[in-house]
Parts: sequence; C-alpha cells; structure tokens
Amino acid sequence: MKPKIVRSIEGLHRETAKWRDDGLTTAIVPTMGALHQGHLTLVAEGLEHADRVIVSIFVNAKQFGANEDLSRYPRDEAGDVAKLAEAGAHLIFAPPEKEMYGRNFATTVVLKGPAKANLEDKFRPHFFDGVATIVAKLFIQSGADFAIFGQKDYQQLQVVTHMARDLDMPIEVIGVPTVRASDGMALSSRNQYLTKTERKQATAIYKSLTQAAEKIRNGTDPQKAMRAASRSLTTLGFKVDYVTARNAETLAVPVSHSHEPLRLLAAAWLGKTRLIDNIEV
Ligand code: PAJ
Repeated sequence: MKPKIVRSIEGLHRETAKWRDDGLTTAIVPTMGALHQGHLTLVAEGLEHADRVIVSIFVNAKQFGANEDLSRYPRDEAGDVAKLAEAGAHLIFAPPEKEMYGRNFATTVVLKGPAKANLEDKFRPHFFDGVATIVAKLFIQSGADFAIFGQKDYQQLQVVTHMARDLDMPIEVIGVPTVRASDGMALSSRNQYLTKTERKQATAIYKSLTQAAEKIRNGTDPQKAMRAASRSLTTLGFKVDYVTARNAETLAVPVSHSHEPLRLLAAAWLGKTRLIDNIEV
C-alpha cells in the first residue's frame, strides 16, 4: 500500500496520535531521500521492532558545509515513495525547509565525545551539530519508540546514540550493518556521482579495510595496518582524509596492546566524490 505523505509537524502528530491511541509502537528511519537498498533495509529493521514505520525525507542544509554538495544532492521523491510502498513503510514525513527551521531558528545541540573524534568532525566541522539538531527534532516530533540508523555512517550512529542517552530521550537507537553491492562497495546516495571507472576503483576502500582487519586479527599493530591501507589507497589515486583504527564505542584512539573492540574507518576522495566506509575487526 502507498504510504501516506505528510509535510507538516501537525500532520505527523495527527497520524502518530491515532497509532498511540491504538497502543501501536513506532519506529522512525531518518533519511535525506535518494533511497537505495541500504535505506530500505533500515525500514525492514524498523518493521521488525515496531508496528508502524515512519520514514523522514529531508535534505538537511544545516549539516552541509559551504563548499559541500547540498545543491547537487540527489532528489527523487516519486522514486522514493514507490520504493517505500514496496518496503512496507506506513508514513513518509517530507517537510519543507520552513517547517523544520522556522523563522529565527536559534537552537543547536552541542556535542562532545564521539562527535569530537577527529574523524568526520575534522573534515566537516558543521556536520554533527546539524545532524544532531535535526535528529533531535525528528525524535521529538515523531515520539517514536525506536530509531533506525545505518552503521555505514558509523560516527553518526555513535553520536546519535550518545545524544539520545545523554538527553534521556525515550527512544531506542538501533544500528544496522552496512548494505553492500556484490563487489563489497557500501551503497550510498553519493555513489551516483562516480563515473563508471571510478565506481570500479572505489571498491579499493572496502578491500583495503578488510585486508587491514585480517592483518590486525593476525597480530599486526592496528595503526601500522591502517598506515599500509592508507598508503595503498593513495597509490591508487585516492586523496585520503583518514584511514584509522578506533575504539568501536568511544571512537578514541586505541591504547596499544589493549584488547578493546576496534572499528576501522576510512574517508577518501575519488575525483570529486568523497566516500566513507568502516568495518569491525
Ligand atoms: P542518509 O545519508 O540519507 O542516510 C540515512 C540512513 O541510511 C543513515 O542512518 C545511514 O547510515 C543509512 N545508510 C546509508 N547507506 C547505507 C548502507 N549502505 N547500509 C545501511 N545503512 C545505510 O545519514 C543521513 O541521511 C542524515 O545524516 C540524517 C541521519 C537523515 C540526518 O539528516
């Protein structure tokens, strides 16, 4: 069935109030649209946890820097609606800019901890303030019991989890493993920017991470393995922002010879496109 589309916070409240009256639980899947199988897997996860799934589609200008890809970010609402109907989402919340950031909007969520890990935050300084602010609004507006996020954006998942816990938001944040193409490449709306040749080259990110994970499991020092991964990407023509091993929960630099759980994270430019990926060890 085609999900209903609401564009106002009032409309969202009207729909969710009915569900609440009927004793139904709700999950929200925040997105910026241009949906692919990764997003749809989050919807499927939402359906596992809750009776009703809301998908928000909002390209959040506040999380883009001045020189970033806001104006060319892919948009395809009709395509998204068709995919969400197929996936079984119940409601689409697609507000216009002014509904989310009304006149004189003046509040930002200020973050520390995993938001200041010298990863995405170093290269996209406004990013997490923008993400946390819109995600906090969506949590409050929807009153959802569950929020579903992808591990693809691993630092974002940690930041949002931390925020919900710190601010006692009555919502459970659930992380879903990254959905990949058959060659290992993480699905992303931004993959559309890649040329055919670049798309083939781009698999090197996942390959270099899996090779590093293998080396680390076999006893190589994590940072040494990651330096080798970074060098190999540079040799292949990537401009590396970071390729690093971090504590899987705090995202702090791991203490050497400790047995803490590790996450390997990478961000690199291929031509004009910035790609990110991460895996567990
Ligand atoms: P967007 O990039 O549209 O991603 C929406 C959600 O889909 C995020 O939780 C992201 O991690 C997840 N996702 C993307 N690609 C995935 C993949 N290959 N496998 C699994 N999950 C994947 O992330 C954002 O939007 C925004 O920052 C948002 C949270 C909506 C706030 O504006």
